[in-house]
Amino acid sequence: MTPTRSADRWDSSLYDDRHSFVWRAGSGLMDLLAPQAGEKILDLGCGTGHLAAKLADMGAIVTGIDSSPSMIAQGRQNFPGLKFVLGDVRDFHFDETFDAVFSNAVLHWVHEAEAAARCVAGALRPGGRFVLEMGVKGNVARIRGAIEAVMTELSRTPKCPWFYPSTGEYSVLLEKCGFEIRMAQTFDRFTELEHPERGMREWIEMFAGSYFEGIPAGDREPLLREIEQRLRPELYRDGSWWADYRRLRIEAVKLG
Ligand code: BEZ
Repeated sequence: MTPTRSADRWDSSLYDDRHSFVWRAGSGLMDLLAPQAGEKILDLGCGTGHLAAKLADMGAIVTGIDSSPSMIAQGRQNFPGLKFVLGDVRDFHFDETFDAVFSNAVLHWVHEAEAAARCVAGALRPGGRFVLEMGVKGNVARIRGAIEAVMTELSRTPKCPWFYPSTGEYSVLLEKCGFEIRMAQTFDRFTELEHPERGMREWIEMFAGSYFEGIPAGDREPLLREIEQRLRPELYRDGSWWADYRRLRIEAVKLG
C-alpha cells in the first residue's frame, strides 16, 4: 500500500510472483492476532489479499482495504468471495466497526502515522485489537545506505520513501491516539529474496523506485549494478540475496 503516491505504481502480478515473501512472512503475525470465528477484521493494506484470505479461512469476516487499484483488482481476482475496498490508510471511514484491525508490512509507507492511527481507532469497537507489523528504525539500513550513497555521489539529494520509527516512538503515538499497548517487540529478520541473481535489483525496482525518479530508465542500469556491487559482500550469501529487515510488532487495544 503506497498512500503517499498519486499514481499507482504497484505491479500486482510482479508482487505476487516475485515478492510473495512479504505476505508469507506475515503468517506469524496472524498467530498474534489469533482471529476468532465470526470476528469482523479489517486488513489494512491488504495488497493482493493472501493474508485476508487466510483470516477468512480461519472463520473471520474480513474486509481488505488498500490504496492501490491494481492490488485491489488482483485481490478481487484472486479471492472473488472476499470484500475489498479501495481506500487511503490516512483517511478512511467505515459505517460499521471492527473487532480487530490487522496490518502487515504497510505502515512503514505511511509518514502521516497519526492520521492513520486515528482512522484505525475510529474503525475499532472499544476493546478492539490493532495488530501490526512494519519496518522499524534501522530497517533495510544496508540497502538504504548503498542506494543513498550512490545517489549522493551523483549530487542528488536522496529522499527516503519510508517511515521507520523506533518502537518507543510508535508506541507513544498509538497511546496518543487512544490505544493501550499490550505487546511491542522488535527483532531482526534477514529475508531471502526470491530470485538468486536478480533478487536485490527486483526488490529495489519494486520498493525503492522513487529514489530513481527523474533518471531515465536507460541510465539506471549502471547505478543498480553499482548498488549491487556495494551490497554483495554483506547481503549476498549462500547463492541468494537477502534483505536486512528489522521488524516492529505491536498488539494494541482501543481504550473504551
Ligand atoms: C519492509 O517490509 O520492511 C519493507 C518492504 C518494502 C520496502 C521497505 C521495507
